Amino acid sequence: MKMRIWIAALGMMALAGTALAQGDVIAERRAGLKRMGAHMEAIKPVADARGDVRILEPRIDDMIAWFRSMPDRFPAGSGTGDTKALPTVWTERAGFEAANTRLLGQLDVLKTAAAAGDAAAFGAAYSVTGAQFCGGCHRNYRAR
Ligand code: HEC
Repeated sequence: MKMRIWIAALGMMALAGTALAQGDVIAERRAGLKRMGAHMEAIKPVADARGDVRILEPRIDDMIAWFRSMPDRFPAGSGTGDTKALPTVWTERAGFEAANTRLLGQLDVLKTAAAAGDAAAFGAAYSVTGAQFCGGCHRNYRAR
C-alpha cells in the first residue's frame, strides 16, 4: 500500500519536472535576453560619447557567448507558455538562425573595435546594432 503511494508520488514529481524544465528554458532565455538588453543600454553612453571603448570588451564577450547559445535556447515545444517567441522561430528556423549569425558577425566587429580602442569604429558599428541586428530578428520572430 505504502509502496503504491510512493510510486504514484514519484510519477507526479516526474510530470511536474517536465513542465518545470520547459518553463525554465523560457524563463532562462528571457532572463538572458534582458541581460543582453542591459548590456546594450550600458554600452550606449560610452559608444555615443566615443569614450574608452576598451572597457566594453567584457560586455561584448558575454554577449558573444550568450548569443552563440541562442538557438539551443529555443528547443522544439518551447513556443507556448510565458513567451513572446513567434511560431516562425520553429517554422522558419533557417531564417531565425541566420539572423542570429548576422548579429554574431556584428558583435565580432564590435569586439575588434573595442580591443583596438577604436572609438570611432565602435560607435559607428554600435549605432546600427540595435535596429538592424537585434531588431532584424525581432521583426520576424518576436511578438510585440
Ligand atoms: C535571432 C533572433 C534574435 C536576435 C538576433 C535578438 N533577439 Fe531579442 N528576442 C528574440 C525572441 C524570439 C524574443 C522573445 C523570447 C521569449 O519571449 O521567449 C526576444 C526577446 C528579447 C527581449 C525581451 C526579454 C523579456 O522577456 O523581457 C529583449 C530585452 C531582447 N530580446 C533583447 C535583444 C537584444 C539587445 C538583441 C541584440 C543585441 C537581441 N535581442 C537580438 C529574438 C532575437
